Amino acid sequence: MTDTRPTGIEWTDTDWSFETAAVQTGIPRGLGETVGIPVHQAAAFQFSTLEEAQDEFARNQGLSYARLQNPTVRALEERLTALEGGAATVALASGQAATLTAILSVCRAGDHVVSTASVFGGSAGLLNNILPLMGISATLTENTPDAIGAAMQPGTRLVWAETIGNPAGDVPDLSALAQIAHEHGALLGIDNTWGGVGYLCRPLDFGADIVTHSLTKWAGGHGSVMGGSVTVGTRHDLTRNPIYTDGSENSVLNVRGAAALAWRQRWLGAHQMGMTLAPQNAFLLAQGLETLALRLERESRTALALAQWLEEQPQVGRVSYPGLPGSPWHALARKYLHGGSGAVLTFEVPDPAAFLARLRVIRIAPNLGDTRTLVVHPWTTTHGRLPEAARRAAGVTPQSIRMSVGLESLKDLQADLAQALGELGQGEPG
Ligand SMILES: Cc1ncc(COP(=O)(O)O)c(C=O)c1O
Repeated sequence: MTDTRPTGIEWTDTDWSFETAAVQTGIPRGLGETVGIPVHQAAAFQFSTLEEAQDEFARNQGLSYARLQNPTVRALEERLTALEGGAATVALASGQAATLTAILSVCRAGDHVVSTASVFGGSAGLLNNILPLMGISATLTENTPDAIGAAMQPGTRLVWAETIGNPAGDVPDLSALAQIAHEHGALLGIDNTWGGVGYLCRPLDFGADIVTHSLTKWAGGHGSVMGGSVTVGTRHDLTRNPIYTDGSENSVLNVRGAAALAWRQRWLGAHQMGMTLAPQNAFLLAQGLETLALRLERESRTALALAQWLEEQPQVGRVSYPGLPGSPWHALARKYLHGGSGAVLTFEVPDPAAFLARLRVIRIAPNLGDTRTLVVHPWTTTHGRLPEAARRAAGVTPQSIRMSVGLESLKDLQADLAQALGELGQGEPG
């Protein structure tokens, strides 16, 4: 089909499907433009007059210094915004940087966060250990609307959950959590890392206000780069948050208007705290996004087949995967996830050390969303620093193995699991 669009214009086409936006967004059309996103390996950008420099320093909306903004990072941000159906994105150096920025964008000393307990260990660490240093408290509770509702306080500014809990595989009732948060004048923030940058789920469509990612996972997709992002939606209400509305004419909300939340996130995460994403990493992440749909569709299919097969193995205890019809989270997965139930499953084996030592294809590594299938023992690694009760609340037991399914064939993965499981119980300690 002939493309009749004029050239030389940057398009943000909101009608594009995920697959199209993933490869087309962030690339200008025109004579001599690169076909893909180029790397701008630069720390600073020129002005031709002092007036231009002064104007940019007053507004901070263009290019001046790469801690604040870089064209390659900006192209990635445009792409992430399109994929999540949001209003704006700031890309940062890691998922952890994104979580911290999201929380600090709506909380200050004296404020409170309610989170589901089944979140990534690093997020629980921020909530339990780092934010209290700044006077921000948190309640981590069961992933049900009733428990979340009961934990809300007058100073609660943020409700926090993951699209699919790590590693329990629990799925929050996004619409119900949004309603609870909004009734209390708080925002709903969702770590959508396991939702595949909008491929499996777009939480903003269900009432969330802020979406974060560890781009290190499915966005990059090859286990080769760290990154994170915070995307805001278009409908958030900040009129009950004193950071934004202090009653003065110069309140952040009055000065920044609808862009206030996105502005503060960039100002905090990149400008002030310097957790800036490097342009080379932005390039690799943008490239990873181009094949995300293909990868996650295939990985979800393999993960479901393996979860079903593992359920039938006598050596295997509980298998947690929201795509399993027997999962307590299956109904919510069907409501909120599309195109699959994700690439991660958790299962219990009697002797994790022996099982892991016998794997020949699957590798032991603390990452997710890699092209290679990776396993960890969350009890002693990713969640190892949490108190025992918190680990159990996150769905982790001493027998749990978390597996992020990659792109190997189902046959080879199943054979590897079978031989590792088959030798269990033969008396060889791990
Ligand atoms: C769900 C989730 N959120 C956030 C993070 C933190 O991301 P990063 O390791 O990129 O800092 C992780 C890391 O494993 C994660 O699994």
